[in-house]
Amino acid sequence: MSDLKFEPSEIKILIVDDTLTNIEVLHKTLEPEGYAVSVATHGEMALEIASHLNPDLILLDIMMPGINGYETCERLKKNEDTRDIPVIFISAKGEMEDIVEGFRMGGVDYITKPFRSEEVLSRIKTHAQLNYLKKQQEKRIKELEYQNHKLRNLDEIKNRFLGTAMHDLRSPLSAISGFSDLFLLGDESYSEDQKIEWVKMINQVSKDLLGLVHNLLDISVFESGQLNLNLSSGNLSPLLLKQVKMNQAYSNQKNISIITSLEEVPNSIFDSNRMGQVIDNLISNAIKFSQPGTSIQVGLTHNDESLEFYVKDEGPGIPKEDQCRLFTEFPGINVHPTNGEKSTGLGLFIVKKIVEAHSGSIQVESIEGQGTIFHVQLPLIVARPDLKSVNIFH
Ligand SMILES: Nc1ncnc2c1ncn2[C@@H]1O[C@H](COP(=O)(O)OP(=O)(O)OP(=O)(O)O)[C@@H](O)[C@H]1O
Ligand SMILES: [Mg+2]
Repeated sequence: MSDLKFEPSEIKILIVDDTLTNIEVLHKTLEPEGYAVSVATHGEMALEIASHLNPDLILLDIMMPGINGYETCERLKKNEDTRDIPVIFISAKGEMEDIVEGFRMGGVDYITKPFRSEEVLSRIKTHAQLNYLKKQQEKRIKELEYQNHKLRNLDEIKNRFLGTAMHDLRSPLSAISGFSDLFLLGDESYSEDQKIEWVKMINQVSKDLLGLVHNLLDISVFESGQLNLNLSSGNLSPLLLKQVKMNQAYSNQKNISIITSLEEVPNSIFDSNRMGQVIDNLISNAIKFSQPGTSIQVGLTHNDESLEFYVKDEGPGIPKEDQCRLFTEFPGINVHPTNGEKSTGLGLFIVKKIVEAHSGSIQVESIEGQGTIFHVQLPLIVARPDLKSVNIFH
């Protein structure tokens, strides 16, 4: 029932009449009630005002110079912008056929002159309420359609996400199952070295799998809006060095050198595990997508307000048209690992979420055939002992 309540000041009424006294009487009836009243003195003018003003109700005289009330109503009903505005005829023509014609032209009501103010007011109130209710319902339907559209999009993303995740989980699991079967069969014809190879494969594949599961868990954390940063004061320089070191064995395998250029920077506040994850993603991407024999540079600079680190490689670069998708889930970019490594397409999406949770930003510059550089800026925040854990998302 609350839907039926409206403020008269929210209701715009257009009076269409060529006689000044009629206009005055209607005006005096409606205005004290609080309705927002406008006036047109002939049909053409009414059509013009109605299409701009979009009134909630039109009180329409029939006998007017130029186009009469019936025709005015007919034309209002033919125009997409004005056809839903309820029209009440107010006329001295009181014959049955006049009234029927009024309804035939699309009127919702018919009042004969001379009229009683109370009657006009209660009819207006009824139609204004109905119209108000109709508009509310239309608004709600639009909202529902919008929500529905959003849900369908989310459902599509979820299906794509599950499809990719399942696909990426299946192959390592089959590898683990296959190699462990071979091992357990204990076939004498296989050498010890061969068996150690299998165990190494199982070990490597389980690590890949664990990485994927971590990524999937991170994504679900972001989507539920529950990323809690564990903030503390720390220094980015040793963190960058640690991540370079952790990737050293991997880069050595590909004969890729990592050169560091780290400025001395003040301590700042960040979540060191999450920031380590960001740095690791960027360095391991640089190794993963670069050709053997190339080099990677990792740098750190600062100014009074911010810290900036970068990871630069001499890899294949990222096509310009793909760069806008780089930080989305499964961007499907046509740049592939150079040594058969795993590539799910979640890393940079997670990186961006973490950086933004720190009120920072990330950009990419990349030239095909020359290489890629990722820059990360973080606000330089001086330690505050009272700050421990912050929920960034709501
Ligand atoms: N340094 C880079 N050089 C060239 N292409 C890159 C580089 N970093 C990322 N890309 C491209 O962007 C895509 C998305 O990177 P992202 O880190 O999100 O995913 P991924 O490394 O393929 O998989 P994941 O990080 O989930 O294991 C990559 O698949 C690759 O095509
Ligand atoms: Mg990655």
